[in-house]
Amino acid sequence: MKTVKEFYKDQPFNYTDDRDFYVNNILKSNQILEYPDLHQLLLSRCNFFRQPLIKTIIEFGCGTGWLTNSLLHYYQKQLTSIDFTEKAVDIASDISTRLNKFAEYKVADIFEYQDSKLYDLVVSMGVLHHTKNCREAFKKISKYVKPGGYLYVGLYHLYGRKPMLSFLQNYAHWHGESSAYNLFKRMNNTMDNKQHSYSWFRDQVIHPHETQHTLVELSEWIADIGFTLQSTSINKYKPLKYFDKQKLSELEHSLESYSYKKNVEELIFTPGYFTVCAKRNI
Ligand SMILES: C[S@@+](CC[C@H](N)C(=O)[O-])C[C@H]1O[C@@H](n2cnc3c(N)ncnc32)[C@H](O)[C@@H]1O
Repeated sequence: MKTVKEFYKDQPFNYTDDRDFYVNNILKSNQILEYPDLHQLLLSRCNFFRQPLIKTIIEFGCGTGWLTNSLLHYYQKQLTSIDFTEKAVDIASDISTRLNKFAEYKVADIFEYQDSKLYDLVVSMGVLHHTKNCREAFKKISKYVKPGGYLYVGLYHLYGRKPMLSFLQNYAHWHGESSAYNLFKRMNNTMDNKQHSYSWFRDQVIHPHETQHTLVELSEWIADIGFTLQSTSINKYKPLKYFDKQKLSELEHSLESYSYKKNVEELIFTPGYFTVCAKRNI
């Protein structure tokens, strides 16, 4: 079995050798709008001097840089972006240059990364569940949040992920990987760049290591690091005061039947991914 580092070495996630594809994807639309709580946070201003609340950001596991480059292009933030896949970082950095933007890129492993600075926002999307210890990685990146600052993390969901994984992995087992890839393309009929869609297929279906998590579990991690949950995709980013623990847990369980309906019945690819935004207590 390949290590995660070997898996991404030559074919990073979101990969294509067409650099215009990346630039056009950033310019075409602001993909951060899919995360309305993050978008709002990025636009927020401090009460008194009306300065932006979020000025400095570090992204852990930036990959080929869709998020870093969107943060630079649409929000003019100061970015430090790290990933242990050199090829991904080279692409991300080249796309920044093509967009006339600058981020401080570093090739580094999350567990070994050292930085004396603290940031207004620490972000990591789809990364920590591929590390050797997701909870430790979560704890490690949270150390770079300023007091009163924010942590925004996207992870695979325990219930939301199962139907898609078992459907496509069983299909690959019985019909072979290339048939499963054809099915994946059918389920993602807007992905028209072949290399790009294949990199998604590898990442989603034949990855050597992933773990899955729940909001109930994350709530404990968040309390443990001295943060408070602000918002989550589990309740579609609605104010949390209307959702007690029981209601959130019911919502989490319902993600399994939702994912089954989408992936298996309607053949619409739905990865089973959720986000949390937490604020560091002062
Ligand atoms: C699924 S990709 C997500 C990339 C990017 N966040 C995105 O949304 O496109 C996972 C990324 O995490 C990186 N990664 C995984 N484990 C890492 C670690 N321990 N240290 C640094 N980067 C890591 C991989 O190199 C890969 O680029």
